[in-house]
Amino acid sequence: MSKENFNRRDFLKSSFKTIVAGSVVLSAIDVKKLLAEADGISENSFTNAKVINLNDYPDLTNVGGNTTIGKAFVMRTGSSKFLALSTLCTHKKCDVDFTGDGFECPCHGSTYDKSGKVTNGPAKKNLKSYKTTFNSEENTLTINM
Ligand code: FES
Repeated sequence: MSKENFNRRDFLKSSFKTIVAGSVVLSAIDVKKLLAEADGISENSFTNAKVINLNDYPDLTNVGGNTTIGKAFVMRTGSSKFLALSTLCTHKKCDVDFTGDGFECPCHGSTYDKSGKVTNGPAKKNLKSYKTTFNSEENTLTINM
């Protein structure tokens, strides 16, 4: 194709091919990983981690103390151990209530033990648990939701 014959139609065809090829290449690349590497941060930084200062949550001062933060039930289970569970019932996503011995769903009666394990249906799956990391120096808790 000579330069004189490179008309608008050819330009559009060429542009379209470039866009399609670029899209294919981009879809094959883990963009998230690339962005993380470019920023020098780990891929886990893209998870929804919530960091709380325990000074702001007096209910979590003592072992056995608990509170709800957003859609997470958080309990201090040891001097430096915490349990964080989703408060969403695994049956149809109603909010479960903590009873002291476990959790009850007010919608259809599912129950869970203190660790979030199903003890009575119709729910079949345990409450989702979140990884927690306690920083004793800063008195903060990171909850990976
Ligand atoms: S939504 Fe909890 S038992 Fe149905």
